[in-house]
Amino acid sequence: MKTYYITTPIYYVNDVPHIGHAYTTIAADVAARFKRLAGHDVFFLTGTDEHGIKNLRVAEEQGVSPQAWVDRIAEEFRRLWEFLHISNDDFIRTSEPRHKKVAAAIFQRLYDQGDIYLGTYEGWYCTACETFYTENELGPDRTCPVHTGRTVEWLAEESYLFRLSKYGDWLLDHIQTNPSAVAPDGPKNEVVAFVRSGLKDIAVSRSTFAWGVPVPFDARHVIYVWIDALTNYITAAGYLDDPEKFRRYWPADVHLVGREIVRFHAVIWPIVLHAAGIAVPKQTFAHGWLTFGGQRFSKSLGIVIDPAALSREIAQESGAEVGVAVDALRYFLLREIPFGSDGDFNKPALVHRFNADLANDYGNLLNRTLALVNRYFRGQVPARGPEEGGDAALREVALSAAGTVEEFIDRLDFRGALEAIWQILGAANKYLDGEAPWRSLREGKPERAGAILYNTLEAFRIATILLSPWLVTATTRAWEQLGIPAPLAAQRLPDASRWGGLPAGTRVRPGTPIFPRIEQPAVASRGSKTS
Ligand code: MSP
Repeated sequence: MKTYYITTPIYYVNDVPHIGHAYTTIAADVAARFKRLAGHDVFFLTGTDEHGIKNLRVAEEQGVSPQAWVDRIAEEFRRLWEFLHISNDDFIRTSEPRHKKVAAAIFQRLYDQGDIYLGTYEGWYCTACETFYTENELGPDRTCPVHTGRTVEWLAEESYLFRLSKYGDWLLDHIQTNPSAVAPDGPKNEVVAFVRSGLKDIAVSRSTFAWGVPVPFDARHVIYVWIDALTNYITAAGYLDDPEKFRRYWPADVHLVGREIVRFHAVIWPIVLHAAGIAVPKQTFAHGWLTFGGQRFSKSLGIVIDPAALSREIAQESGAEVGVAVDALRYFLLREIPFGSDGDFNKPALVHRFNADLANDYGNLLNRTLALVNRYFRGQVPARGPEEGGDAALREVALSAAGTVEEFIDRLDFRGALEAIWQILGAANKYLDGEAPWRSLREGKPERAGAILYNTLEAFRIATILLSPWLVTATTRAWEQLGIPAPLAAQRLPDASRWGGLPAGTRVRPGTPIFPRIEQPAVASRGSKTS
């Protein structure tokens, strides 16, 4: 069985999760669910990055111990992921003993072989990024290049350094021979240019605070938070504790990250692994940045969107169950913004997608078809009948579109995948309108009407299986209404690649609309900005 190991960044616990974190995690979840559907043995990892000055300072501000603070916020992340139907197989916290052991072992190994040495590090440090910058990387007035307006601090301290400089040529060669090691092209070119400009050795320990993994051979130092954090990906895969698991899942297929942390993942991490004699991940994929009104989410500016509150709001405005509203958010984020590009979050655009795509194209197709089956066929799926009219065209569109979805997912092109599924729904809606089973009924051709309803439902069944990674609750409800006895969770990709899988005679169970329309004047405007 093919394996698929996908990760999200492990998030800092300096603050509660927001929609930006949810964006990455939902994307990873959809890929993980799709790969399970495609029959892969999937390992999907997320977690929290709990050490370092950034987390420590917040705990101090809150007047609690760092451990008490990180326990609290890690729990918030866990709870949100459950609420958002995130199907992670593990949740790693860097304060766990299993992880500290691995971080220390990697550090020790690099030290033993001479790749880590004691020196002094001086530079401009941004605590928000937990990273050093050179003078010419800084913004105006010595501010952080990532966190606009935030002043950096000059740090000079005794520190262990890692010989990054030794491995630049190896990395360039690696990226050249593995063209998909970094994707998409923008971040990849940025990484290549950065490496070409010459890598400097980096500080990999801190000695002015103690909230971290102690350097195993020098208790005055803790391991630099980024080295600590990156090793989470091998800890959870079983690096020290479970060699069999590690062989199975490592190297990871994809590290999904926001593009501001691509250098850590695509430069430092592969070099650390290569130096330590461990295989490097197959791909780092850097997606774009989600903004609100063109601005970064920022608690101090009052720009925060809580995905749970937003989902509840959508549920209330539509009358849909909360799980369905969560699905709508999952769908919207990956449908509206091409993955890899930046995009602005915009509620009217979400409402528009809810009504047009989910309520109308998807939900209403089911409602109107099942209503006819109920009324004219005693609630039982009619026989398929011989192909005529637009039948073959619908079948061909559905099967050929279905056949492309996995390739889109392999490229993390979620929008492309959804557009392919929408070709099926678009064709089915058009088919139903054009073939007009009500006309066949009037003309005294109930078999033909039955065949049209069969074909429509068959296209709907295929779309439902394919949509299940995005719309976790809604597709389960749709499946219940279709009445197919085998559970949706037991369906695999081949079930969506054959025509005729819906058993004639199935007793359908029409219910209330899964996506009731959101009635509000704002739906007319559609100002979502994508770039
Ligand atoms: N702890 C580090 C990652 C260590 S991974 C070994 C970190 N944490 S973070 O809490 O700042 O999370 C950053 C990540 O959260 C981004 O890379 C991205 O995946 C996600 N996002 C946070 N805000 C986001 C947006 N506004 N837009 C898109 N993604 C966002 O960096």
